[in-house]
Amino acid sequence: MASPALLDSSEPDPSVADLIAARPHLAMHAMDGLVLEDVPLNAIADALGTPVWVYGAGTMRRRLADLTAALAGLNVQIHYAVKANDHLAVLRIFAGGGAGADVVSIGELRRALRAGIAASHIVFSGVGKTVAEIRAALEAGVGQLNVESPAELAMISAVAPALGVTAKVALRINPDVDAGTHAKITTGKAENKFGIPYDDAAALYAHAASLPGVEPVGIALHIGSQILSLAPYRAAYARAADLVRTLRAAGQRVTRVDCGGGLGIGYRDTPGLSPAAFAGALRAAFAGLDVQLMIEPGRWLIGPAGVLLASVVLTKGDERFVVLDAAMNDLVRPAMYDAWHAIVPLAAGNAVGPVSKVDIVGPVCESGDTFAKARALPALQSGDRVAILDAGAYGAVMSSTYNARPLAPIALVDGSRWATIRARQEPDELWRGESIPAFLD
Ligand code: LLP
Repeated sequence: MASPALLDSSEPDPSVADLIAARPHLAMHAMDGLVLEDVPLNAIADALGTPVWVYGAGTMRRRLADLTAALAGLNVQIHYAVKANDHLAVLRIFAGGGAGADVVSIGELRRALRAGIAASHIVFSGVGKTVAEIRAALEAGVGQLNVESPAELAMISAVAPALGVTAKVALRINPDVDAGTHAKITTGKAENKFGIPYDDAAALYAHAASLPGVEPVGIALHIGSQILSLAPYRAAYARAADLVRTLRAAGQRVTRVDCGGGLGIGYRDTPGLSPAAFAGALRAAFAGLDVQLMIEPGRWLIGPAGVLLASVVLTKGDERFVVLDAAMNDLVRPAMYDAWHAIVPLAAGNAVGPVSKVDIVGPVCESGDTFAKARALPALQSGDRVAILDAGAYGAVMSSTYNARPLAPIALVDGSRWATIRARQEPDELWRGESIPAFLD
């Protein structure tokens, strides 16, 4: 299975102009350089330094509105997958656009509630919820728990009656469908750890219905991430619809189908999965079934809305290596998934001119700390700035402080306004909570 968006893919690199043209929230201005919505990114880098993340609020709102419009006529609720980007301001923006939240930990639950998302509009997913997390979710009154195993069902049935509540649960089914995406982000194959085997689902649903404190309301599935073709969705949703019919024929009540996330974006200059086409797949599978549909997109909503700005520290090896001040600890996707991220200069003058193939790397002491290999780019020199595009999803949330590098600040653009929404981490915050025991003295 070919993984999409390979770091050193043999596909020719799109030009800087084509990359910008494919992204309506970006423009290159002759004087101001690269502009996100209406804010020159150089202004943010001047104020906050680099590396720095920048998100576009208008871009997020527009994407949510576009997705919502494509789903018109379907009975579907959008639960934004908080794991893609859990910043409170991001959650507030999506909540303002009518989205609920899909959370996978007590921390994400607290963030969603703190951002003002109603508990009833929160779905709690995850393959290893602890008793403490189940209790917190039920105390908060979340709208649904997506259950991934018989053991978890037993845990919920032990906790809920003690709290005097009934847990609405959906059984997450593993449909054994290949999503055609990178092996590390495919989740719906039988060999993946996720969900309940399809053939076990009917019996477990009946068991759930017999348990105290548990009300099975439907089924859930999520087959993977960065999915660019409809075929795996069609196959998985057909299986889900069959299961709904089977369960109902057996006398079970099934009112909801949570169809997961996974909608892929265009990391190059081609579009991602079309929301209209995705809506068509939902319609084809579930029309006439009279179920409340839910989806859990993360990347599609926030990915394109974020960039990571970095400065060139130096070039070396006859200009073959361009060393940035951002690193794999900031954005791990290229190192972890061989992901291809567009890299464009901030200055208009750097966006034109003859291109040569360079490796764009970070300063961390690992060869994997590479953002791009043999990337065709106009010449870059020490002090020049670049934007790594489509870094809004699985960017800042996956950062670490490896090599004792503080977490980068975050700015939020909204039209022509911008604000700092996370300060740069201070170096001494890195060892907060650490101590040197007296017996070492
Ligand atoms: N629902 C569930 C149950 C999930 O596990 C996920 C993502 C989503 C929804 C949202 O998927 P999305 O719409 O964002 O594709 N770190 C990886 C992606 C991991 C996805 C994990 N699950 C990356 O950077 O590509």
